[in-house]
Amino acid sequence: MRPKRADEEDHLDYFPPSPRKPWSMGLAKSVSTLVIFVAGAVLGMSMSSQFTRYCNSHSELFFPRMMYSANCDKECLGIGKFVRPAHLMHSMTDDELFWRASMAPRRDGYPFRRVPKVAFMFLTRGPLPFAPLWDRFFSGHQGLYSVYVHTLPDYKLNVSETSVFYGRQIPSEVVEWGTISLVDAEKRLLANALLDFSNQRFVLLSESCIPVFNFPTIYKYLINSVHSFVESYDEDGACGRGRYNHHMSPDIELSQWRKGSEWIEVDRELAIDIVADSKYYSLFRKYCKPACYSDEHYIPTYLYMFRGSFNANRSLTWVDWSRGGPHPARYGSSSITEGFIDSIRNNRTLCTYNYEPTSTFISLRESLHLVH
Ligand SMILES: *[C@@H]1O[C@H](CO)[C@@H](O)[C@H](O)[C@H]1NC(C)=O
Ligand SMILES: *[C@@H]1O[C@H](CO)[C@@H](O)[C@H](O)[C@H]1NC(C)=O
Ligand SMILES: *[C@@H]1O[C@H](CO)[C@@H](O)[C@H](O)[C@H]1NC(C)=O
Repeated sequence: MRPKRADEEDHLDYFPPSPRKPWSMGLAKSVSTLVIFVAGAVLGMSMSSQFTRYCNSHSELFFPRMMYSANCDKECLGIGKFVRPAHLMHSMTDDELFWRASMAPRRDGYPFRRVPKVAFMFLTRGPLPFAPLWDRFFSGHQGLYSVYVHTLPDYKLNVSETSVFYGRQIPSEVVEWGTISLVDAEKRLLANALLDFSNQRFVLLSESCIPVFNFPTIYKYLINSVHSFVESYDEDGACGRGRYNHHMSPDIELSQWRKGSEWIEVDRELAIDIVADSKYYSLFRKYCKPACYSDEHYIPTYLYMFRGSFNANRSLTWVDWSRGGPHPARYGSSSITEGFIDSIRNNRTLCTYNYEPTSTFISLRESLHLVH
């Protein structure tokens, strides 16, 4: 629960809930007549022969200079904080945040120097064991990335002021793995990152991800890609089509049902689409409950239905499911060797990049205890 905000209380003062009594209606009417009359009289006076003499003082009366020019250095509406909010903390509810984040300019170009950035969004319960590795990864590339961290609500990251994670926690809510609250957290990360208009690509990562390429390679790969990277495929059987609920028809048909990894990478337009959707999200909220997992189906299905041609349909995050079971394989420090990282970099699994054949995984999940 969020505390009630001051402005909500203010509304109560301005709009008293009890209806006005008839006599006050009468009073209100005569007041408005009076106001119209006064305005007319002033207009008449200013149009009189003494126009010039009265002019200054009257324009001062209706357009007081103080109101328009005072303290502009500090308080005036400007573009700086709008396109690049100074603080990550805010008091917006999810509804307010998603509404604001879903706004997109219709005008071409930017009225400020925009260097496109990659938003690295970390979804974690608490500590970030690879923080030192990520700090080294980002070092020297300020201005080309931004970092966002969603933790448990009262968890405070303990990092030094020089870390890229310092002050980068967003207002977070409880996440229960396997429920729609996981999708809520993903949308919350996307929405907070969208508030910075320079963010162009959005990567979702967990605390157990590490990068397998250096920053310039990843930046170039993402910024120049014409596709987003959300795994999205049709799977037969209990873990695929078996999770579809026929109540979703006709809005979502079985033939449109898709599955994919939770670890997504999207461009700004798709990020806005995801944050803006409430119709399909509501269907998942209502009808996709364990053993259906919204985090594996909602975004892959939604993008397949409306943005398929913008999607590469594959994830950039390499996860090893080869050992079976509900959790991916974990790698201890002994198995993380140069050869192992190379095998991920040069994995020959066929994929395309901007319609050309390539082979790339950008980050590796579930590789605990690498840095000690
Ligand atoms: C934060 O980290 C520092 C350095 O690792 C450590 O000395 C300190 O005890 C930690 N603080 C908390 C509250 O965990
Ligand atoms: C991904 O799948 C969609 C929908 O099937 C398709 O339109 C799109 O071309 C695919 N993307 C690539 C890069 O093949
Ligand atoms: C590529 O990755 C797949 C899936 O993890 C694995 O089975 C395969 O052996 C890898 N190929 C190479 C050449 O490393």
